[in-house]
Amino acid sequence: MLERAKVAVLISGRGSNMAALLYAAKADNCPYEIVLVASNDPQAPGLTLAEAEGIATFAHSHIGLNREAHDQIMHEAVVEAGADYIALAGYMRILSDDFVRKWNDRMLNIHPSLLPRYKGLNTYQRALDAGDSHGGCSVHLVTPELDDGPVLAQTEVAILPSDTADTLADRVLIAEHQIYSATLAQYVTRENDPDWILEQVRTRALRLEETHERPSFGTPGWRVGSEKTGKYFAYFSRRHFGETGISIFVKTSGLDEQSALLDADPELYFAPKFYGKSGWIAIRLDTGQTDWDHIDSWLKKSWTMVAPKRLTKLMSIAEEF
Ligand code: GRF
Repeated sequence: MLERAKVAVLISGRGSNMAALLYAAKADNCPYEIVLVASNDPQAPGLTLAEAEGIATFAHSHIGLNREAHDQIMHEAVVEAGADYIALAGYMRILSDDFVRKWNDRMLNIHPSLLPRYKGLNTYQRALDAGDSHGGCSVHLVTPELDDGPVLAQTEVAILPSDTADTLADRVLIAEHQIYSATLAQYVTRENDPDWILEQVRTRALRLEETHERPSFGTPGWRVGSEKTGKYFAYFSRRHFGETGISIFVKTSGLDEQSALLDADPELYFAPKFYGKSGWIAIRLDTGQTDWDHIDSWLKKSWTMVAPKRLTKLMSIAEEF
């Protein structure tokens, strides 16, 4: 089993979501562990629970501190605990842009509404007042704008005719406890998910000029040039043609470069059998340690090898400046 991702949970109050994350993490196959529970309120009841469960805790009141100074103290505690991710769970603080930037793509939040509806507070009453058929909860990535980051998962919760804000909140909370740990577990293992990996390659390939995607023998491939005369510069392989694992095929300058790469890093590169002695090289994407900047530069290099002159000329002119 892979090493577990280390998560710090930030709370301000009762911490029932924190408890749900924590109990889910007791399962042997849970891909994350809680390394710290931290709060801006030293009296938060959730801290007592975390302590009783043997989890490290940290508390520092925000009172009398400006936002940046308090965020910095929390940031240092989280880093000190060795966390790779932050899960906000009822952390009632607006975060400074600087803090959010430091945890970009590594900080999740749970919010008791079906975002983008009802950001902020009072979500249950607002759903009732609007006559909605469902309330619910959302797990999202945190961006500087409040409750606005990409939604990773949602659960709908039916509204009953007899519901008050309190009874609805109670039921939404049950849904929160299910979805938060499941989504966090999925998120921290996303780099092993073939669909996530494919999406990374796709975004990067299509960012290059005049590119489009076209399947080739059942596998996604990317071409540069027109739909008619375009040439392939990359293929995605998921156990394609009997190759193991997940990889990307890109073009080298030829067999010399290909064999130099195979010698230099046999763990990362292999020669795709299907392409024979053609100078294509396969780069593994399932090591769990993919350097995406490196993949970016390979795609660009491969693109340059097959792109029409008029495009590469423009690029070399741009690079001179
Ligand atoms: C939850 O409803 C959560 O969605 C919201 O704050 C509440 C925290 O509750 N962000 P708890 O402290 O996890 O019990």
